[in-house]
Amino acid sequence: MIAVIDFGSQYTQLIARRVRECKVYSEIYSCFIEADRLRGRQLEGIILSGGPGSVYQTRIARFRKFFELDVPVLGICYGMQLAAEIFGGKVKHGKKHEYGHAGLNTSRSLIFKGIDKSFNVWMSHGDRVIKVPVSSKIIASTASTSIAAFQFKRFYGLQFHPEVHHTRYGIKIIKNFLYQICQARPNWSMKKFVDQQIGSIRNQVGNKKVICALSGGVDSTVAAALTAKAIGNNLIGVFVDNGLLRYREREEVYRSLKSRINLRVIDARRRFLARLAGVIDPEKKRKIIGHEFIKIFEKEARRIQGANYLVQGTLYPDVIESGQGVGPSVVIKSHHNVGGLPKRMDLQIIEPLRSLFKDEVRKLGYVLNLPNRFVERKPFPGPGLAVRIIGAVNEKRIESLRSAERILQEEARQLNIYPRIWQIFAVLLPLRSVGVMGDKRTYDHVIALRAVESEDGMTADWVRLPKAFLSRLSNRITNEVKGINRVVFDITSKPPATIEWE
Ligand code: XMP
Repeated sequence: MIAVIDFGSQYTQLIARRVRECKVYSEIYSCFIEADRLRGRQLEGIILSGGPGSVYQTRIARFRKFFELDVPVLGICYGMQLAAEIFGGKVKHGKKHEYGHAGLNTSRSLIFKGIDKSFNVWMSHGDRVIKVPVSSKIIASTASTSIAAFQFKRFYGLQFHPEVHHTRYGIKIIKNFLYQICQARPNWSMKKFVDQQIGSIRNQVGNKKVICALSGGVDSTVAAALTAKAIGNNLIGVFVDNGLLRYREREEVYRSLKSRINLRVIDARRRFLARLAGVIDPEKKRKIIGHEFIKIFEKEARRIQGANYLVQGTLYPDVIESGQGVGPSVVIKSHHNVGGLPKRMDLQIIEPLRSLFKDEVRKLGYVLNLPNRFVERKPFPGPGLAVRIIGAVNEKRIESLRSAERILQEEARQLNIYPRIWQIFAVLLPLRSVGVMGDKRTYDHVIALRAVESEDGMTADWVRLPKAFLSRLSNRITNEVKGINRVVFDITSKPPATIEWE
């Protein structure tokens, strides 16, 4: 395992990911982690990330621990400056920020093995190393930085960022560190990850029972399937039908997962609808749905004798958002996966996916042989159709939206751009408009269509859907869904709009 130590760089995740792309397992740790926690973890090497400036240089001695673990260390940007200071070199605080491409000239070193002597790299720093520790060797420079890389015993420091695409040979440099310097073997794969996780879940829970709230989404399904592979029927999945699911979703989840997961399906449709009656405010809807869910789940958990653990599909980005386990740059924000349930329930948490990114979870889903429809699912909000019905939620309106949504999904799956679409859905608006059908005047409801492309859901742009597709949808929805006589298409990006309408 390669430990990537986070000093707050925006690129930390990218480093961990690149290492895994090189088929070596990596995990991210906060720079404040006790070094002892890294011992005995089959550690093969350490990568120190960059970080926001020299903020931590006042008490840098505490980071000496990372150099005392008897494995090679690669320091990137701040990581390089840190090593320089610790071993007696000197770092100059720069007023000018060097940002962007730079031509690098290298001299012989294992880290640059098999690479051209000069190539373009990506720089992003203010401070710079102006004196290297005694008995180290300067191994690269640029026109403006005479010490762009140095080597000191088994430490390699790089002022530039090998993890970003703009650095030519970046991956090769990382591979050199992993394979040549750490002697790590490129033998990690998702299949190995499954085996490791199965071992560690079995160790952790023994023959105790584990429960899991399944939403039918990718993350919770993959986390549950993996846990079930480790402990079989001792994993009990709880799926709550809140009446706000998509067309035949409950049946589909049950049919696809019942052979793999010991699954309990709870029909709570009436209960949710009763609590939502007359509620219009979106945040109120969310709160009611969240509370009801917790109450139902707690009750079910109490009925399961000897349940000591709760498995959650928390992913790495969720961990970062909640400010857990990583370094100083994190945005602290509570997350529904991480906060909430366990505190009130006194269950220990298992999070087998907490070091992975979404696309890695999908890969894991394939390795676990989950049906493609689950692995490829688009995000669907926890409060379900309730936040896509603007205004009051009732059975009739849910039925309208569900029918429109079914047609939309049927048609959308035929699009060759479907895999590129982040989300595509219908929204039921709280207004009526005049229409004409046959010879009759109608006064019916409006469906809005929304389709967005996005990297991570934080920003998004609307998808330029083919005209023929839009016109087919408009025809089908107005013809097949009772009470709808108008279809509009949302052409707003995020920002200024959000992806969901509520
Ligand atoms: P917004 O609407 O904030 O959506 O631009 C960004 C992403 O988050 C999803 N979303 C939710 N997911 N509970 C969830 O589990 C929610 O209350 C919720 N609201 C939005 C949304 O579908 C999109 O993928």
